[in-house]
Amino acid sequence: MQVAAVLLLLALALVTPSSSAERKCVLTGLWFNDLGSNMTINSVNEAGEFSGMYHTAVTATSRKIRISPLQGSQHRENNSNQPTFGFTVNWSYSGSTTVFVGQCFVDEDGREILKTMWLLREQVGSLGDDWKATRVGINVFVRRAPRRE
Ligand code: BTN
Repeated sequence: MQVAAVLLLLALALVTPSSSAERKCVLTGLWFNDLGSNMTINSVNEAGEFSGMYHTAVTATSRKIRISPLQGSQHRENNSNQPTFGFTVNWSYSGSTTVFVGQCFVDEDGREILKTMWLLREQVGSLGDDWKATRVGINVFVRRAPRRE
């Protein structure tokens, strides 16, 4: 009887899905944020470096939005399942630059989520305007499959 109970426990342990903290959060793929922006992150190399493209849904300018390149780096220490990262977006249609820092989490339902903070630096015409050149905010990204047209 005891042997049967042990075997049952063993079998349960084998079929139970691993907890969310054990699942790895992977940056590569298509992500959408709370503003409706999306970005595609290409593969992350051995050094933790990655590139991608960012399509913002909003702009601080009056210019036409264009998809812009991003360059980033993921922390590799301990080969963490929920790594920190940072990336820079060099906006193609304005003189602005945004840097994002964040961490890639797996929530209790196993969904990946990127919690980020950003600084947006606008190019201003003079030193006197420097005081108003930087914005700060947060964005939360979730993974989504590409839409079929
Ligand atoms: C610009 O307006 O000059 C560039 C676009 C900036 C878009 C910002 S970056 C932070 C925030 N998150 C987004 O997805 N878009 C805005």
